[in-house]
Amino acid sequence: AKLKLAVIVGSNRTGSINQKLARALIDLIGERADTHMIKIDDLPIYNMDHEGNRPDVVNRFTREVAACDAVLMVTPEHNRSITTVLKNAIDWGSKPAENNVWKGKATAITGTSPGAIGTAVAQQHLRQVMGILGALVMGGEAYIAFKPELIGEDGSIAIDDTKAFLQDYIDNFLNTAKKLTA
Ligand code: FNR
Repeated sequence: AKLKLAVIVGSNRTGSINQKLARALIDLIGERADTHMIKIDDLPIYNMDHEGNRPDVVNRFTREVAACDAVLMVTPEHNRSITTVLKNAIDWGSKPAENNVWKGKATAITGTSPGAIGTAVAQQHLRQVMGILGALVMGGEAYIAFKPELIGEDGSIAIDDTKAFLQDYIDNFLNTAKKLTA
């Protein structure tokens, strides 16, 4: 069966550069997976008071993640960590512990920012959080320093060596995820 791949973008910003990068990565995945962007910007702030009576949007979110074999996270860096909107979504997905949707999930992490280190610190934090939740986070690293010319008019990666690097990262992830879900 085709790999079912969820793509989660850690930004709720209109015109997000990470949203753009995620779309370009979906192009690099092509027909090799059934790829589905999962919305997280409509989730309320996590509050344990809602456990037992979770909002519909939260149940929709956890159902969508649970239905996927693998997750690709594309996150900005906020104050040298992951964004609130992404951490919030991760927290909803992690509880209750017996329904933790991240456990055993093949996961790849990337992200872009205009800063020189291209979300490296945020990605390290994300790797730790997903690791303790039992996600199978792929090794390697893909820190993408954003420049306006990175993504072309057609939405694809327009810098050849970055495109080749990301194609290799994605190919490796798809191969790893297939092995893990076989
Ligand atoms: C930022 N930005 C940022 N960039 C970075 O490289 N390292 C950082 O620690 C931060 N910190 C940070 C904090 C906050 C509160 C904001 C709003 C922004 C800049 C950030 O990379 C930029 O806003 C990107 O455009 C975010 O990605 P999206 O939302 O466009 O995908």
